[in-house]
Amino acid sequence: MARSRTRILHAGRHPARFDGAVNPPVYHASTIAFERLDDLEAAIADPSQGRHYGRFGTPTTRALEEAVADLEGGSGCVLAPSGLAAITLPLLALLGPGDHLLLPDSVYGPTRKFADTVLAPWGVAVEYYRPGPEDDLTPRLGPATRVVFTESPGSHTFEIQDIPAIARAAHGRGATVVMDNTWSAGWCFDALAHGVDVSVQAGTKYIVGHADALMGTVTARDPDLLATVRRTAHLFGHCAGSEEAHLALRGLRTLDVRLERHQANALALARWLARRPEVDRVLHPAFPDCPGHALWQRDFTGSSGLFSVVLRPVSRAALAACLDGMALFAMGFSWGGYESLIVPSPVHRTLTPLPEGRLVRLHAGLDDPDDLIADLEAGLDRMNATTQGEDG
Ligand SMILES: Cc1ncc(COP(=O)(O)O)c(C=O)c1O
Repeated sequence: MARSRTRILHAGRHPARFDGAVNPPVYHASTIAFERLDDLEAAIADPSQGRHYGRFGTPTTRALEEAVADLEGGSGCVLAPSGLAAITLPLLALLGPGDHLLLPDSVYGPTRKFADTVLAPWGVAVEYYRPGPEDDLTPRLGPATRVVFTESPGSHTFEIQDIPAIARAAHGRGATVVMDNTWSAGWCFDALAHGVDVSVQAGTKYIVGHADALMGTVTARDPDLLATVRRTAHLFGHCAGSEEAHLALRGLRTLDVRLERHQANALALARWLARRPEVDRVLHPAFPDCPGHALWQRDFTGSSGLFSVVLRPVSRAALAACLDGMALFAMGFSWGGYESLIVPSPVHRTLTPLPEGRLVRLHAGLDDPDDLIADLEAGLDRMNATTQGEDG
């Protein structure tokens, strides 16, 4: 893994500022009070700092911004109240009526919904392109293209995109590249070094890591771009709470250790599933038949805990028999926490056909992989028993 373990332990920490406390304290603050007019005016005069009201940040949220900027190699970071808010923020900051936005067909569902139901009626031309190594992006870039959105891998079907090629093409037409970088946690893919201008994460997932807080992060290398995003956050009243920032900072300190286990567990489960007759395909970028595997090998330094399988067609009752009785896996739409999750994928596509069969997404938590495999095995046995009953 490329990033420095040591740096994520220290980034954003300034014990000397807080009476030696190792972690930045949790500031509960809306009102910021001043005793001198000079100080009040100085605070207002510097909108990039925004230190005159709690909505513009606290020392706790600023510590998280500093730490995430360090993790992602940006000049700074702007927090948002959720991962989805962190996606919509740069899109609102960079786009306006008459502009053209390109999104991969594999994009996270709520991003698609936002583009189709908010941006398109507002006058943004929303267009989808096929994800994967054969990106059919270049012919779609035009003078009005302001943003090329990327998500690599897609969080249900795991296509890896050729980010450096996309960035070259987009920059050649003056467009900004925004990436949902949540799957890599900013740890096993260095988005900004590969040409991305704005790297967004649902910090809710691996950064927080314990399924107990929502958080969004928007990181950029160019200070002007970041200032545009921050201005938009202020205009819309977006902010992240100090409690959540504290939980994200706590999670960040163990990001690499947790990701190592998530990665190992996911690979163990995926390899076991690949040998099962009920499984048609495993969709995991580390598998050679996964779309974009060669790009993953070239650009990523590892993988995380989220992947999918395509089950051979079975009835809904058989699938329910498998999923309903799981002892360790819970059914939930999130991921990135210590808990293991399994869920039928609710994917919507307009350009690329979905794999035939039942698409099921798994998040390998931090459990013992042998226990997880036993849970899956019991589930597949229940599924087969139900299928046999239907056939008999
Ligand atoms: C790939 C991806 N991006 C963004 C988000 C949104 O994160 P949040 O739930 O914090 O809004 C999610 C949530 O599942 C996601 O899977």
